[in-house]
Amino acid sequence: MSAAHAVALTVNGRPYQARVEPRLSLADFLRDDLGLTGTHVGCEHGVCGACTILLDGHPIRSCLLFAVQADGAEVLTIEALAEVGATPVAPPADAGRGEDRSRAESTPPFPPMGERGAGGVRGLHPLQDAFRRHHALQCGFCTPGFLMTLVVFTRDHPDATDAEIREALAGNLCRCTGYQNIVEAVRDVLGRAAAPAGGAAHD
Ligand code: FES
Ligand code: FES
Repeated sequence: MSAAHAVALTVNGRPYQARVEPRLSLADFLRDDLGLTGTHVGCEHGVCGACTILLDGHPIRSCLLFAVQADGAEVLTIEALAEVGATPVAPPADAGRGEDRSRAESTPPFPPMGERGAGGVRGLHPLQDAFRRHHALQCGFCTPGFLMTLVVFTRDHPDATDAEIREALAGNLCRCTGYQNIVEAVRDVLGRAAAPAGGAAHD
C-alpha cells in the first residue's frame, strides 16, 4: 500500500486536513471521506461531467484529479450552492477578524444573482429554482454537474446566446431531459424570454 499524503484544503468554506492515498480521486475523497455525496460519479473518465466541482473558482471534473492535487485549493461542491446562492454573496463585515477568519476569507464566489431568485423556493440558488420550474431534471443524476458548470457560465456570460448556452452544456451528459428544458432554465436565469413554442430558438 502506498504511503498516505497529508492534504489541507478548504471545502465549501470549511478547512479540512486529511491523509489520503496518492491514487484517491478528489471525487471519492469528497464523497467517501467528507460525506459530500452531492458530487456524483458517472463515467470516471472525464466524459459525463457529473462530478463537476469548482476548484479555485474553475469548473473541473473531480474524477480526473487526485485528492493530493487539491492540496491548498478552495473547493466548492453542489452542497454549497443553495447555502450561499440565494442572495448576493459578499464577504461578511467582520471578514479577516476573529476566530472565524478562515471561513470568512473563503466565502464562496458564486455569482450574485440579484433579485432573480425572488419568488422562488427559499434557500435554492436561482439556477436550482429555474431547473425546478422548467423541469430541467428528471432522475437528477447529472444535475449537480450541470449546476456547477452553469453557475460559472451564467456569471461570466450574462448575455449568452442559445448557441453559447448549448456549447457550455456540451461537456455535461444527460440521459433524461433532451437538454431543451435545461437551456430554458438557463435562459430564465439570464433574464431572457423563453424560446418560441414548438421548437428551440437558434441564435
Ligand atoms: Fe467525472 Fe464522468 S464521473 S466526468
Ligand atoms: Fe437523468 Fe439528467 S436528469 S441524467
